[in-house]
Amino acid sequence: MALRDILVVPDPILKKVSDRVDVVDDDLRALMDDMLETMYAAPGIGLAAIQIGVAKRVIVMDLAKQDEPKEPRHFVNPEILWASEETQPYEEGCLSVPEIYDEVERPAHVKLRYLDYHGKTIEEDAEGMYAVCIQHEMDHLDGVLFIDHLSRLKREQAVKKVKKQAKAA
Ligand code: NI
Repeated sequence: MALRDILVVPDPILKKVSDRVDVVDDDLRALMDDMLETMYAAPGIGLAAIQIGVAKRVIVMDLAKQDEPKEPRHFVNPEILWASEETQPYEEGCLSVPEIYDEVERPAHVKLRYLDYHGKTIEEDAEGMYAVCIQHEMDHLDGVLFIDHLSRLKREQAVKKVKKQAKAA
């Protein structure tokens, strides 16, 4: 396993649309292992492959609380089969937009289909944090960041702030 660099805004790679994965093999599992290690080290609760510069429809996530055992989740080619009309606001952040947090409104419940770590098809319902996180991560696969859901002014301010941080680092 290896730690990978996480891309931050305004890196144009983050705007790329990721490609579907043909087969879940050992190479893809190695990528997912690296992604989880990178996510835990950051630390974060979700990471899409494009955030480490790999344009594949792959996501890792762990929503366990700090004092709970790890619960790594892997999503390959995730799709939303259904989304509720009911929405909920949630204050989101993103490893590619460090130190910026803002409220995004998304469907409160979604029904998902994806391939897991072993390439098995899974269908399940998501709500609460899980629904927020999977929708945020799936946006990444289409080149969309959570700040793209905000006003243009807020988005520009966020990018400016991240650029400033990068310069200071
Ligand atoms: Ni993100």
